[in-house]
Amino acid sequence: MAKLQAIRGMNDILPGQSLTWQYLESCFHRVVQRYGYQEIRFPVLEQTQLFKRSIGEVTDIVEKEMYSFDDRNGDNLSMRPEGTAGCVRAADQHGLLYNQQQRLWYAGPMFRHERPQKGRYRQFHQFGVEAFGMAGPDIDVELLQLAAQLWQELDIAEFLTLEINNIGSAADRKAYGAELTAFLESRKENLDEDASKRMYSNPMRVLDSKNPQVQEALEGAPELAAFVSQESIEHYAMLRAMLTELGIAFRENARLVRGLDYYNNCVYEWTTDTLGAQGAVCGGGRYDGLVAQLGGKPTLAAGFAIGVERLVLMLDSLEKVPAEALHPVDIYVLSVGKVAPSLGLQVAAELRQKYPQLGIVSHCGGGKYNSQIKKAFNSGASLAVVLEAGQDGDNAAVDVKIRRLGDSDESRDVALTDLTTQIAEFL
Ligand code: HAM
Repeated sequence: MAKLQAIRGMNDILPGQSLTWQYLESCFHRVVQRYGYQEIRFPVLEQTQLFKRSIGEVTDIVEKEMYSFDDRNGDNLSMRPEGTAGCVRAADQHGLLYNQQQRLWYAGPMFRHERPQKGRYRQFHQFGVEAFGMAGPDIDVELLQLAAQLWQELDIAEFLTLEINNIGSAADRKAYGAELTAFLESRKENLDEDASKRMYSNPMRVLDSKNPQVQEALEGAPELAAFVSQESIEHYAMLRAMLTELGIAFRENARLVRGLDYYNNCVYEWTTDTLGAQGAVCGGGRYDGLVAQLGGKPTLAAGFAIGVERLVLMLDSLEKVPAEALHPVDIYVLSVGKVAPSLGLQVAAELRQKYPQLGIVSHCGGGKYNSQIKKAFNSGASLAVVLEAGQDGDNAAVDVKIRRLGDSDESRDVALTDLTTQIAEFL
């Protein structure tokens, strides 16, 4: 019978790779904790309507990429394609937003039916950070500072560029959209089916068209910058000044629009050229209208999300994961010959108690010295403790040896009772 395979674009993360993930997760947890952000967890499944109303009906994510289905009750549900919508839904449903400030983070799998390639998957993972109830730009800068700190901790700051743009307020965008529709109507005959549809429902999405003919038709189109209000310009100017004062380098990119409809004012992406085509590692911005759009009270909001797989690829290819994070086993305990069956487990337990930060494996399953020591090497441990039975099979007569694995094969015979203290000299 043919073996079943994982779904295309959905990856298994195997033990070797999961060490990089754990390293990344612990760095992220440390940084968000230092900035006073608290974790929120919300379901992978939500009503499809939630994503339609937040990300936007006329976006690639909602039109083409969601995993949606009717459940057994006939409710139309979707696997979350991103975290902001669910985070807002959960925070508002539980009364965390009204008249309050919140700094929240989340992590977990997201689902988009995109064409898989390096750095782009159908199940992928995000670290997300969302801040509510603050007007900015101080909070916007704090969010960027937090991301920059993470890049520094991971030692990849030099490979990332921050791109920022001001896309104006919701009202500015509406005025611009009307003007753009009028312009597109005058070029109607040069638009494809997609653009002809979108020019009424979401004219700004026509700007993202990959069709060269549509791009040609866009020549001379009105520009958003001309519609951006004074207030929004000031917010953005202040944001840039603060970034400069804090030494966070950025590049302005007037073409940066983001693929989700809920943004206003400042938007940004951190990009890298170490990953090929999928160079966006982190994206976000303000979304002051979203809470009200989903039925809550008007609430100021801003946040970003990081693509975990893309960071993992970066860390691995740049060899930025510290060696100790890749070696979960420090000591391997061998039991050779007729050692009492529980002795290895007991010795390992004592070592764990004395050195709780170390990974200690007690060999199970018997076998000769040669095969056990091979497993000790393969485990990546730097030390082996060899328990070898003496003549009469009595624990008291067990020979105990501490052996260094790796370049040096230094070893020392010790008394069983001295093992936990003597081993300190090898650590
Ligand atoms: P996004 O730009 O759609 O924004 O996704 C954020 C990050 O997730 C991207 O920069 C990328 O690294 C990663 N990503 C997106 N799609 C894929 C994929 N198919 N495979 C692998 N990685 C992917 C959002 O999702 C917003 N919710 C961000 C946000 C939070 N805005 C405000 N708060």
